[in-house]
Formats: sequence, structure tokens, C-alpha cells
Amino acid sequence: MPEDDREIRERVRGLISETGRERTQLLEVLHKVQKEFRHVPRAAAEAIEQEMLVPVAETYGVVTFYDLLSEKPVGRKVLRICEDVTCSLHGSEQLAAQAEQLLGPEGAQSRNGEVSWTRCACLGLCDKAPAALCDEEPLAPLTSAAIRKIGEDHA
Ligand code: FES
Repeated sequence: MPEDDREIRERVRGLISETGRERTQLLEVLHKVQKEFRHVPRAAAEAIEQEMLVPVAETYGVVTFYDLLSEKPVGRKVLRICEDVTCSLHGSEQLAAQAEQLLGPEGAQSRNGEVSWTRCACLGLCDKAPAALCDEEPLAPLTSAAIRKIGEDHA
């Protein structure tokens, strides 16, 4: 159910007051917003502008730069499949194709809204390629069976 913008602004003000109003806290505030709303809604960016004096455009610049933040709602669980060189050489693209088949289009929520998947840059797990993160848990090497299990458990 879509949340009321006023309620979102109120909840974001609460997150800002427990984190800090300084610009240097922006990333931490955005991570909390992402966790709470599964994306950074426009109303949240507006609350950040009012409370932290960071323009909405600047907030979305940060959101689009970081893989862990998103403009559109993502699932409760997010699978991030590394597409960088080493993982690509170890079959990450085939695994991404499998994720698309089982979990739905990249960046979208699965039918039940529980899971999303996306490609990402190097996760620092190249020695275990192909690598992925499921929320904060490393899945390396990522296997077809692991993707199937996520699909069975969550999609
Ligand atoms: S290239 Fe995939 S984890 Fe480094």
C-alpha cells in the first residue's frame, strides 16, 4: 500500500533527528530511508531538503550513484549479482539471466513484492567469482541452485 507523503516526511524527520542533520550524515540517513521504505521516495528527499538543506536533486544524485540505494521500491530481500570482469568470466551473465527468469525483471519487485535482483559492480569477492550479495550476506560463488532457492523461498 502506498504510504502517505506526509507520513513519510514525518518518519524521515525522525530518522534524521536520530542520525544528525549535518550533510556528512546524508549517506547514513539514506541507508536508513532505504531500509525503512525499500527505496528513497520523493517525499523522503523533500524532508531531507527541509531538515538537512540538501537539495532533492543532490539526494537523487547520491541515490543513483550507490548500488545499495534505489529510486524505485525493491523487494524485502535484494540479490545483487556482480557483473564486473572476473565474475563475468565466471558466468555471472548466465546467472543474471536465470535470476530474470525466476525472480522477474531486474530492479523490479517479484510478483509478491518479496524479492528483487540487480546487477552490481565488483563486490570485492573476485577470488570466489561469480559473486553476489543477498542483502548483506555474501553468496560466493553464486550458483544456479542458490538462485532457485531464493525463488522458491521468496518469489
Ligand atoms: S569482479 Fe565480481 S566480485 Fe570482483
